Amino acid sequence: MRPHPTLVAHYATPEAKPEFVNRLFDQGAKHYDSVVDWGFLRSGASYRRRTLRQHGLRPPDHLLDVACGTGLVAVEAEKILGTAENITCLDPSEGMLAVARTKLGAHFVQGRAEALPFPDNFFDFLTMGYALRHVTDLETTFREYCRVLKPEGRLLILEITKPGGRVAGFFFRLYFGRIYPFLTQLFTRSTDARDMMRYYWETMDACVPPASVLSALMAAGLTAVKRDTALGLFSEYTAMKARSATT
Ligand SMILES: C[S@@+](CC[C@H](N)C(=O)[O-])C[C@H]1O[C@@H](n2cnc3c(N)ncnc32)[C@H](O)[C@@H]1O
Repeated sequence: MRPHPTLVAHYATPEAKPEFVNRLFDQGAKHYDSVVDWGFLRSGASYRRRTLRQHGLRPPDHLLDVACGTGLVAVEAEKILGTAENITCLDPSEGMLAVARTKLGAHFVQGRAEALPFPDNFFDFLTMGYALRHVTDLETTFREYCRVLKPEGRLLILEITKPGGRVAGFFFRLYFGRIYPFLTQLFTRSTDARDMMRYYWETMDACVPPASVLSALMAAGLTAVKRDTALGLFSEYTAMKARSATT
């Protein structure tokens, strides 16, 4: 199941999506931290740390942070784990990884969520922050998550989800579709940063509903699949690998 239909204004075929997305983040990497910092009213770090804690990250967990980007999730995980030694960060964008490497001494791996270069039953905890829309296939990705987690290992996926109601939907569209990309260009003077935030909106707008994400998690063999929400916008998908799972 694809997270959203092919966005033909950006790439003609599903096969062309990874290269497009990679270029987008490579080019926007140096602006990413500042743009998400003010765009989310400086709440990003504390929200990421709080949800990691709430959903059970604790020492001495071995964490895989998929789609680590510039390391915003991993940096907060380090505060909880007390060390970055047990943290592995994976991302396909060398530009994003280069920024992350300046922030923490985790293990950095260039790779994609759909084909994780790790053995079976390896990690206690797996996170993915705001990147679900960028994979090519949800079920393939979640099967990989299930494979690399140890039995009873936990998964936390953070996402922004377009609200259902008309009024909330209107303001969501106005902010993420218009105001945020406009301010991004104004503050950064970078069309690369603006394009990154425009695409951010377009993928949120086109994304499959939460029920489809939950179904894909279950279809991948994960258990205790659940979605919590914050402020009606922030989705926290959690799941666990069963104790008796074979891989
Ligand atoms: C919006 S950033 C999120 C960064 C960070 N996790 C955070 O919480 O801010 C999305 C990241 O997903 C990465 N990404 C895109 N396609 C991916 C894929 N197929 N597998 C893993 N990561 C991917 C991008 O390179 C980018 O760094």
